[in-house]
Amino acid sequence: MNYILATLATFTVIVVINAVYQKLTNGVCKSKKKLGGKVALVTGGTSGIGLEIAKDFARRGAKVIVACPFKEEGENAKTIIMKETGHEVVFKLLDLASLKSIRDFAADIMKTEDRLDILMNNAGVGLPGDFYTQDKINFVMQVNYFGHFLLTLLLLPLLKKSASKSEPSRIVNTSSGLHLLGSTNIEKLNRTGYWYKLQLYSNSKLCLVLFAHELSKRLKGSNVVVNGFEPGIVGTRIFNSLNVVTGTIITFLAKILFKTARDGAQTAIHIAVDDAAGKVSGQHFKDCELTRAKKSAYDDVIAKKLWEESTRLVKLSNDEIEKYINGFQ
Ligand SMILES: NC(=O)c1ccc[n+]([C@@H]2O[C@H](COP(=O)([O-])OP(=O)(O)OC[C@H]3O[C@@H](n4cnc5c(N)ncnc54)[C@H](OP(=O)(O)O)[C@@H]3O)[C@@H](O)[C@H]2O)c1
Ligand SMILES: *[C@@H]1O[C@H](CO)[C@@H](O)[C@H](O)[C@H]1NC(C)=O
Ligand SMILES: *[C@@H]1O[C@H](CO)[C@@H](O)[C@H](O)[C@H]1NC(C)=O
Repeated sequence: MNYILATLATFTVIVVINAVYQKLTNGVCKSKKKLGGKVALVTGGTSGIGLEIAKDFARRGAKVIVACPFKEEGENAKTIIMKETGHEVVFKLLDLASLKSIRDFAADIMKTEDRLDILMNNAGVGLPGDFYTQDKINFVMQVNYFGHFLLTLLLLPLLKKSASKSEPSRIVNTSSGLHLLGSTNIEKLNRTGYWYKLQLYSNSKLCLVLFAHELSKRLKGSNVVVNGFEPGIVGTRIFNSLNVVTGTIITFLAKILFKTARDGAQTAIHIAVDDAAGKVSGQHFKDCELTRAKKSAYDDVIAKKLWEESTRLVKLSNDEIEKYINGFQ
């Protein structure tokens, strides 16, 4: 009996100390910046971290567009954001697992919006499985990385048009601490049949960091900055992709021991609104501070190779790339 009590007490103390430590080290965005007149797009702004980011931008006065593949999810998120912030947001359908859906979505944005100031590449899936999409790209890789690659390039003209030296447009990518496990074997990124499934998620997240590097080089002089971040361990339903019971337990533990979605959103918000953060590009943040991703994420040769493989897989022609990257400077 005593033994059980002692174990329980020890466990409780560890939990409390850890929780306090996490809350103290979690960076909080302190910027008071208002976003009136600005347009911000949050992919997957309908749940978890993205929903908190969308609420924050709405409170700052931005026109916020959230996008996910399910209408019901989107309408539900709209209602929540309206209720909590008093601001209307726009919902549009976007399925990053379909190149056609991405192109339709981007064309719609280009037609209906006359500016885009913040592109928050937040949507992501955990590990729902290891299979190909209709575009013959590994599903997790397409949603987390290749889809955002295409979307970002298609929206660049609008981001560039809206940018000025004092108010750069900002692209923010959601990477993960798990990028550390990512492999840089570029030829094999599109495959399925991973024996170690976590590798797949990790690869998609390393690619996002590598791309920071390459895109920021290609955008030099354009007033568009691109930075990435890792949110830490955040209690959201992303863990449900493992299975709902395990997922719910992990989500609960992550929330009390590590971060809530609102905590997890802070660094993304910081990169998107903070004045000093708007002056850097191709960088990686954690807890609202600059940090370094793993070394191979800054390898010029790998980054260029990944760029070329990505353009091939998402079927972007050289003419298109030329148009999006250089055409509007
Ligand atoms: N939670 C963590 O511990 C953690 C750690 C490191 C990095 N991250 C990253 O943080 C980001 C946000 O994740 P979260 O934890 O907030 O998870 P979440 O609550 O599951 O939110 C994911 C969002 O992405 C959207 N989405 C999923 N598939 C999509 C698709 N095919 N096309 C467009 N949108 C899609 C979802 O839309 P629906 O609502 O319609 O499903 C949802 O809004 C992800 O990139 C994730 O990898 C999370
Ligand atoms: C991805 O790899 C698979 C298997 O090797 C292949 O069948 C498919 O054509 C590749 N996809 C693309 C878009 O090249
Ligand atoms: C963000 O992702 C886009 C598209 O995948 C990529 O072009 C860009 O280089 C990435 N940037 C960072 C900082 O990860």
